[in-house]
Amino acid sequence: MRILGIETSCDETGVAIYDDQEGLLAHQLYSQVKLHADYGGVVPELASRDHSRKIIPLIRETLKQANCSKDDLDGIAYTAGPGLVGALLVGASVARSLAYAWDKPAVAVHHMEGHLLAPMLEDEVPEFPFIALLVSGGHTQLVRVDGIGQYEVMGESIDDAAGEAFDKTAKLLGLDYPGGPRLSKLAEQGDSSRFTFPRPMTNKPGLDFSFSGLKTFAANTIAAEGDDEQTHADIARAFEDAVVDTLAIKCKRALKETGLKRLVIAGGVSANRHLREQLEVLMKSRGGEVFYPRHEFCADNGAMIAYAGLQRLKANQTVGLEISATPRWPMDTLPSV
Ligand code: KG4
Ligand code: ZN
Repeated sequence: MRILGIETSCDETGVAIYDDQEGLLAHQLYSQVKLHADYGGVVPELASRDHSRKIIPLIRETLKQANCSKDDLDGIAYTAGPGLVGALLVGASVARSLAYAWDKPAVAVHHMEGHLLAPMLEDEVPEFPFIALLVSGGHTQLVRVDGIGQYEVMGESIDDAAGEAFDKTAKLLGLDYPGGPRLSKLAEQGDSSRFTFPRPMTNKPGLDFSFSGLKTFAANTIAAEGDDEQTHADIARAFEDAVVDTLAIKCKRALKETGLKRLVIAGGVSANRHLREQLEVLMKSRGGEVFYPRHEFCADNGAMIAYAGLQRLKANQTVGLEISATPRWPMDTLPSV
């Protein structure tokens, strides 16, 4: 079975073709980062318009790269949510209309399920059950995963997502959007012993997160300590250490609570080197294993949507003819396959 996957939930247009025998055949990504950089964040209306411009050429290019035609496809999957409604509707309209015109089934994919399953695109895949730490610009979640669609959200952020906290703190440090990777780079020159930021909500039991206070802590530190380059690097380092530590503490707690030995990390922030290293150490000490997608599939992409879509297509979980998006969509309402 072969599927075309389309991602347009935020500021990347992603298209891919996945085949359950041959694996990933082609993937194309267009990032709108430059378009939004002047505004310091994603402007939803501009995002929708740019998806509209890029999506058809990208689909053509992906089909060409995979050396296949519409007749080789068994279905079309698209991100139906969560995300920006206008951006989602571009992908939904194009995917649903193409599926109608080509007489193929259409599959509505949950964006976070896409992230969660992205490690399945690699050679070594995690077996179920496992704990997934999903860390993106919009979500921070710890999920117990017993199978595809068998998701128990054990904890999540009560305010800013981890990626959002990175981006907001980066902005305070004068770094351009998207600041997460830039802050992390700056942190490499930072002295980890100069400042210690709090590890929010780690003194209380439970698996929820709260990252918005760290941004305030960073703002206060900048105000108190000055604006020189080294201070910025030291603050970046203290901030990154605090986020990574907090995530690791909660992962450890979730593993302990469930007795599970496998951990998946996915979403944009899973590209963070320190986070990967710290979780590798944690899993080694617990005799377990950690899995993550290759770098380019940590952030938004079409490949993860094609993969997740194919699993749903095989289970006949297709959608009707209406074009719809679900900007808010709790992951634990998904059916199992
Ligand atoms: O998954 P993603 O591409 O989009 C959403 O679904 O939100 O995640 C984007 C987020 C941004 O907040 C970005 O700053 C963050 O991931 N990010 C990073 C790194 N690379 C991307 N944060 C920290 N360190 C990184 N290396
Ligand atoms: Zn994402």
